[in-house]
Amino acid sequence: MKKKKKPNYKLMRTIAKTILIILILTPIIYFNRIRIIHVPLQIKYHKYSDVVNSLFDAKYTNKEASNTLDKLIKKEKINSFTDDYIVSLKDKGYSKNTISYVLINFKPGDIKSLINSKYDKDIETMIKISYFDYNNYDRYLNYRKDTEDIKRTVLKVQLDLDKDSYSDTVEETNPDSLTALISKHRYINEDYEPSDLVDMSDDYANNYYRQMQLRTEAYESFKKMVDAAREERLNFYAESGYRTFKFQKQLYNNYVNNNGYAKANLYAARAGFSEHQLGTAVDLANIYTIDETDAEYEWIMNNGYKYGWIFRYTEEWTDLTGFAKEPWHIRYVGVDVATKMHDEKISFEEYWIKYVNKKEAK
Ligand code: DAL
Ligand code: ZN
Repeated sequence: MKKKKKPNYKLMRTIAKTILIILILTPIIYFNRIRIIHVPLQIKYHKYSDVVNSLFDAKYTNKEASNTLDKLIKKEKINSFTDDYIVSLKDKGYSKNTISYVLINFKPGDIKSLINSKYDKDIETMIKISYFDYNNYDRYLNYRKDTEDIKRTVLKVQLDLDKDSYSDTVEETNPDSLTALISKHRYINEDYEPSDLVDMSDDYANNYYRQMQLRTEAYESFKKMVDAAREERLNFYAESGYRTFKFQKQLYNNYVNNNGYAKANLYAARAGFSEHQLGTAVDLANIYTIDETDAEYEWIMNNGYKYGWIFRYTEEWTDLTGFAKEPWHIRYVGVDVATKMHDEKISFEEYWIKYVNKKEAK
């Protein structure tokens, strides 16, 4: 009779134990893998930098420290910074929070600039603004005022508002773009004329003195907006739309002759510096020129962005635009841009600096 082979219990036990160990260890290793990866970095920096080290120390108890380190490692920044940077920044007086921010967001060259510049408490706030630019470091400090929010100062310097109006002007080389910025420092070429201008009908514009025109997309959207307002028994129409360079020149000169330079400069742009030449700006009237107290103004404030229209010259933004408030002047920028501005409650100037003129990632 054939002898039945005895099962190898020892082997089976070993296999079972191994499987059990794998089952237990897998989730532990998985959930702690970040901790495991970080250990060599912690050792590497331990003896050099108490800032990075303190981040590591706080890593398991402080979510912010943990996030900072995760970002540093993810961006592979942590290995590219010499410890000298961290020590120098700390010696200059920068806070732990600022140093962490700088390590994550700035290129080594920018960190060197920071180390080589004079420490200033306001700089700690400024460098955290997304459009802070090292090249303008001294301009920010020279232009700041006790009465002004630092963020506003940085924005204004980015817009060249620390310089005299109409000085150091730059040509807007993309006037066809719906986000072209025309200001007292940015002009459109004298010969520029949009290629898709259309005549506005009498239903939507006062064509009594001259035929009003707008760019096609702006006009289509303007009609939709006016129709929607009319559904709610409000009414407004265009009193001015596209203006040629030549027409703007006459208009500006008339203002100067009637009111003097100072006043004219608050209400009319010099030829080439008016966004009416873009073919996407409109001045509105109901019977009279639209005013802040009009129901139409409030309606556009609340609904204009849904059609891509924004106010450009509000009271709140006079220091950014250099023009007095103009509750009648609206501009078409497209629904996405207008919605973002509405959600963030920001001026077109700030939108442009943040999203259009944005520098390459630091
Ligand atoms: N009134 C505005 C600023 C213009 O002339 O374009
Ligand atoms: Zn206008």
